[in-house]
Amino acid sequence: MRESDRALPHGALPPNTLGDSSFNTDHGVRYAYVAGAMGNGIASEEWVIRLARAGILGFFGAGGLPTSRTASAVRRIRAAIVPGQPFGINFLHNPVLPAVEDELTDLLLAEKVRHIEASAFIRATPALIRYRVTGLRQRPDGGVEIANKVMAKVSRPEVARQFFTAPDPAIVERLRRAGAVTDEEARLARLVPLADDVCAEADSGGHTDRRVAYTLVPHFRRLRDEIAAETRLPQRVRIGSAGGIGTPDAAAAAFMLGADFVMTGSINQCTPEAGISDTAKDMLAQADLPDFDIAPAGDMFEIGAKVQVLKRGSLFASRANRLYDLYRTLPDLGAIPAETLREIEERYLGRSIDAVWQETSGFYAGRAPGELAEAEANPRKKMAMVFRWYFVHCGRLAIDGRSDQRANFQIHSGPAMAAANRWLKGTPLEDWRRRNVDVLADRLMEETAQLFDERLNAVRDNRRDQPLTAPRVLRR
Ligand SMILES: Cc1cc2nc3c(=O)[nH]c(=O)nc-3n(C[C@H](O)[C@H](O)[C@H](O)COP(=O)(O)O)c2cc1C
Repeated sequence: MRESDRALPHGALPPNTLGDSSFNTDHGVRYAYVAGAMGNGIASEEWVIRLARAGILGFFGAGGLPTSRTASAVRRIRAAIVPGQPFGINFLHNPVLPAVEDELTDLLLAEKVRHIEASAFIRATPALIRYRVTGLRQRPDGGVEIANKVMAKVSRPEVARQFFTAPDPAIVERLRRAGAVTDEEARLARLVPLADDVCAEADSGGHTDRRVAYTLVPHFRRLRDEIAAETRLPQRVRIGSAGGIGTPDAAAAAFMLGADFVMTGSINQCTPEAGISDTAKDMLAQADLPDFDIAPAGDMFEIGAKVQVLKRGSLFASRANRLYDLYRTLPDLGAIPAETLREIEERYLGRSIDAVWQETSGFYAGRAPGELAEAEANPRKKMAMVFRWYFVHCGRLAIDGRSDQRANFQIHSGPAMAAANRWLKGTPLEDWRRRNVDVLADRLMEETAQLFDERLNAVRDNRRDQPLTAPRVLRR
């Protein structure tokens, strides 16, 4: 019997054999699994701590939070874990307030946070590059030691490309001249890719380009190899798969596609540690496949970016889409028909548009007076800013669990949640209160390994049962 014909004993595949083993050693984790960030602290301190103690990498949901809040989260997480236990922070691109990225970089460097999940980037910014380049050191063996690990989450090849290559030399040079990085760091920056890991994000909960993992993962792998042949950088950038992973079947498929690691998102929101209300978790635990919808993304409203949200039990998606239609078709807030305006003020905003504008302008006067001046001069921009308030408000309602306002809950989630609900039906984890985020990860990875093993064995069994001739269609 040939070696390849020998069936593995069932259940023999340990979960840490899935994916690329360098992922485990580089990040100090038990297996090639990541719990992706969920903004506004939904990926909370408790959530990160629980994962870290279990040897699993999770990213704190810093998006939408003031840097001071992220700073206290870092301190709290650090105090609860021992050195070497893995954790990271989400580094979300901020096109409206670039200073927020600089503040976050200052914090990450001061606190020596070694892992970030970089997302929503179109072009790598100086703040992100400063994080990556700081701490590069020449090793005695000639290699480069990288202090700060970057996992980029990307859904487009043109964005992925820059993470496979060295940080933009012009930006590195500007940082060097400004004294933000040393001469040595700037020199070594040419020898390392901008990211260690690039996670290919297919149709997911939250912001999504609705790509298909079957095409995205192989595409990114080939692109990575092509670019590596051009740049000749010694480090192989790993490719991960995110989007739609809520069951062992999906995770096994991702590994078979060639993913070096998998990332989950939606399923981790319906766990006791997630920083969102029990009401929202009860709604998520009920979700089935058709219960999701696409709505405009509040933080990138004007450019037409989309988020995937829970539809069942909330009118948020249809209301948000209606506001977007008004924004697209009307010149200013004054052009909204009176009847529609009344409905928006009463049912959507729960206050007058003037009250929303007062709150919004107060915020921007402190943070970004330039933006405010632009909005005062440009009625469409003002309309976008008023409507964007609704998105922040609705996210907050779901986090706080204002049950009387359930119709406005904005709950980012995707079909992976529904798939997980069905997978866990009839098990102790049917009740979300028992779905601790690390327990869920363990169960998913253990069953994935089992399933992977079973399916490989089934293929091998088939091969033994079938005559070893090529199928007719191939012989023609
Ligand atoms: C509630 C929620 C909030 C999210 N917030 C963020 C975020 O702030 N930053 C980010 O990079 N990804 C965010 N994501 C995306 C996840 O990290 C992950 O990439 C995605 O959910 C994976 O797809 P899935 O939902 O199909 O599992 C969020 C996802 C959800 C469900």
